[in-house]
Amino acid sequence: MRIDKYLSNANLGSRSEIKKLIKDKRVRLNGQIVKNGKENLDINHDIVEVNQHKIELFENVYLMLNKPQGVITATTDSSQKTVLDLIQPQDRFKGLSPVGRLDKDTTGLLILTTDGQLNHNLLAPNKHITKIYSATIQGIVTDKEINRFEQGLVLKNGTTFKPAKLEVGSIDTDQNQSQITVSISEGKYHQIKRMFKACGMTVLTLERLQMGPLKLDSTLKPGKYRKLSPNELNLLK
Ligand code: URA
Repeated sequence: MRIDKYLSNANLGSRSEIKKLIKDKRVRLNGQIVKNGKENLDINHDIVEVNQHKIELFENVYLMLNKPQGVITATTDSSQKTVLDLIQPQDRFKGLSPVGRLDKDTTGLLILTTDGQLNHNLLAPNKHITKIYSATIQGIVTDKEINRFEQGLVLKNGTTFKPAKLEVGSIDTDQNQSQITVSISEGKYHQIKRMFKACGMTVLTLERLQMGPLKLDSTLKPGKYRKLSPNELNLLK
């Protein structure tokens, strides 16, 4: 990787600020002053210092966030709190973006990464990455709904949804509510809410538990995040 790109990924400033750091002889590669930002470095072995502080080598950042209710899945917004606002400044790496979108009132697993390729792969429709959600539904979910989900729902406006696996965990007849899990392999706008609406039911709470092989860490409190472990990253890639 080029040294200037590496410094940019490490959040050390804009392109012109990084150029200036190099021009001012503040950047060293294995102890030698760097004269040209286009020089390449080996991220596994080389040591980069800026102002005599070692800059940790990394390529991309991968975070798992337990998204709370009330924040929007965006990187910036003029009036509303975004998921990026939940990330500490030192972890807000350049290009860090959410993978896909959860509604403002949806909670649970959200991956944020600087890795544009992985982001794209996880969302590509032809990859059919399974997403598993847990939800509380206003209404009693029966075999009728399970079959409709299994066959692939078609809305009145012609929108079609691929077959989805709906499972009932528990039913509360007093409250007229059902606790369910549902697995879908696409990510259409408000998909789960629209699927239940088509069955005459309302989604009261929605939480994403899993995306592909990656499971939400049950010890992560809402609003908290952590880096993916090497094992989790391997699973995703
Ligand atoms: N389906 C929805 O309706 N909302 C989400 O946030 C995710 C899936």
